[in-house]
Amino acid sequence: MNIRLDKYLADSGYGTRTEVKSLVKSGVVSINGTLAKDCGQKINTDSDTVSVRGVQIGFDEYEYYMLHKPGGIITASRDKKAKTVLDLIESKKRRDLFPVGRLDKDTEGLLVITNDGDMSHRLLSPKKHVSKTYVAFVSGVAPEDIVERFEAGLDIGDEKLTKPAKLNRFDDISCLKEKYNDLIIETRFKDHFVKSDDIDNKYTSLSIFEIKISEGRYHEIKRMFEAVGCEVVYLKRYSMGELTLDFNLKPGEYRRLTEEEVKTLKDF
Ligand code: URA
Repeated sequence: MNIRLDKYLADSGYGTRTEVKSLVKSGVVSINGTLAKDCGQKINTDSDTVSVRGVQIGFDEYEYYMLHKPGGIITASRDKKAKTVLDLIESKKRRDLFPVGRLDKDTEGLLVITNDGDMSHRLLSPKKHVSKTYVAFVSGVAPEDIVERFEAGLDIGDEKLTKPAKLNRFDDISCLKEKYNDLIIETRFKDHFVKSDDIDNKYTSLSIFEIKISEGRYHEIKRMFEAVGCEVVYLKRYSMGELTLDFNLKPGEYRRLTEEEVKTLKDF
């Protein structure tokens, strides 16, 4: 790929277009060992070598990250007031990264962050039916036929019923720990109970459900449980297609996706 030097530097994390122009002017940028003078000079990303202050820089056309999204952070690229999921990706080079899909502010778990628009489009396309697995802690008395009702599709106030969702009830938190090896969630809920002296009734009768959906409507899972008289008090995403949350990552931590993981996501 051939791109302008200023775009190459900006995309590699060396600042805005204006900032990289000053960088070039200040005489610290070289191309294939020769001092660069013109910001508009074309760089072949496969064969040219660009250095800043003598250090060769690498160019990634695309970046792919897996973030363990913590609660309390908004799923947006930037926001004037609130901290966003992009603010958590400190090692990012590219300025055009965005989250693939949206998790509510209080929802935790797997979030992919990239600048690969085609991949994101495919993963989110309603036609592709990419399955997403969540675990929901739910208050209220779940109806006996809740599994069948989620499978049949629910009226959540939209034009159409929801697509069939697969629900699996966990007997207790240890089943969840066994399946997902998630120690964090256990600690979180212990804290929750310990913290409240006057335990709110709503937390005394929690049910735990694993739920697989293939759509991405606004507040979809919360509205589905609401439709059967329950309330989601905690929601966490564990997988998207074949990609599963890496439990070496604590909430707020991230890592680059491996080549294999990128390939799985691209194969949709
Ligand atoms: N469904 C919801 O209700 N919230 C999310 O964050 C994701 C799915």
